[in-house]
Amino acid sequence: MADADRKPPADLAAIQTLAADDMAAVDALIRRRLASDVVLINQVAEHIVSAGGKRLRPMLVVLAGRACGAGGPDHHQLAAIVEFIHTSTLLHDDVVDESDLRRGRSTANAIWGNAASVLVGDFLYSRSFQLMVELDSMEVMRILADTTNRIAEGEVLQLLHVHNPDTDEAAYLRVIERKTAVLFAAGTRLGALAAGADAAVQQRLYDFGMELGYAFQIADDVLDYAADAADLGKNLGDDLAEGKATLPLIHAIRHADAATRERLRGIVERGDAGAMPEVLAAIRVTGGLDYSRERALAHAEAAQRALDGLPGNPALDALRGLARYAVERTY
Ligand code: IPE
Ligand code: IPE
Ligand code: MG
Ligand code: MG
Repeated sequence: MADADRKPPADLAAIQTLAADDMAAVDALIRRRLASDVVLINQVAEHIVSAGGKRLRPMLVVLAGRACGAGGPDHHQLAAIVEFIHTSTLLHDDVVDESDLRRGRSTANAIWGNAASVLVGDFLYSRSFQLMVELDSMEVMRILADTTNRIAEGEVLQLLHVHNPDTDEAAYLRVIERKTAVLFAAGTRLGALAAGADAAVQQRLYDFGMELGYAFQIADDVLDYAADAADLGKNLGDDLAEGKATLPLIHAIRHADAATRERLRGIVERGDAGAMPEVLAAIRVTGGLDYSRERALAHAEAAQRALDGLPGNPALDALRGLARYAVERTY
């Protein structure tokens, strides 16, 4: 099932309704600014964008703005920028991860090959910089330049850990902060900045986004072991196949008996997807999924605490709702 056809859970649906007008404007902007006279760019970009995706990051930008009392064209532009950056990282990520399913569809790399995916990813990435320049704000440029640079570092850092069974929880957290959480944090901070919020409020929204990003990625890593594949719109087991030790497996390696630990280490070194039943058994015995879910929940709670003390309004409640959704989601 393509993401665009899937019905969201009730709590997310209510939040989407609240953000619907803003998101319609963001979607129109994304579609308008996707265009190129190079046919292959349109085909590849249209393929991934029209599949939907949860549009969580742009929603964070507009809700952070509304929570701080403002919204409008600048927020829509920032939201589109953040989604373009995200989409370009997905095109690149599916090449690196050799994934063949995304948003319920064949990945761009599966259809058009790695070169096309990387290059169209670069197109979306540089298009996001064109959109940034239009906002004519050095502060916005600085935040997004720093953010995209950190994301690239995160991706390379992750690459260094692939097939490394010594990857521990601290190293894992360093990777997910950069590859995922910083973009969430930039999104919520930019929403606040563009609403004219002061530095202290921007910091709270930034902290919220950062914690939410951690929670979201840990939940994603649980889903890679525990989701329903049709629901997820991605293949399960991609992380193991790639030799990527994420939190459930890191926990299992740490807490398994000595013989199992050696087996698991070898499986990570080889990226042995065929060993999935064995890995799942070890994760079950050591409580790796529950442990990871608890860690995700702790970050989601920290996210919500970051908002304490801000004047209440429906958009602020919606941000809290997204923090709950990030850890309860099934896709
Ligand atoms: C996928 O992000 C990449 C991760 C950080 C786990 P999403 O799960 O937000 O992807 P889409 O946009 O909804 O497809
Ligand atoms: C997210 O990591 C990578 C990005 C931030 C692009 P994953 O590799 O877990 O993402 P999915 O599971 O492929 O969406
Ligand atoms: Mg991936
Ligand atoms: Mg994943």
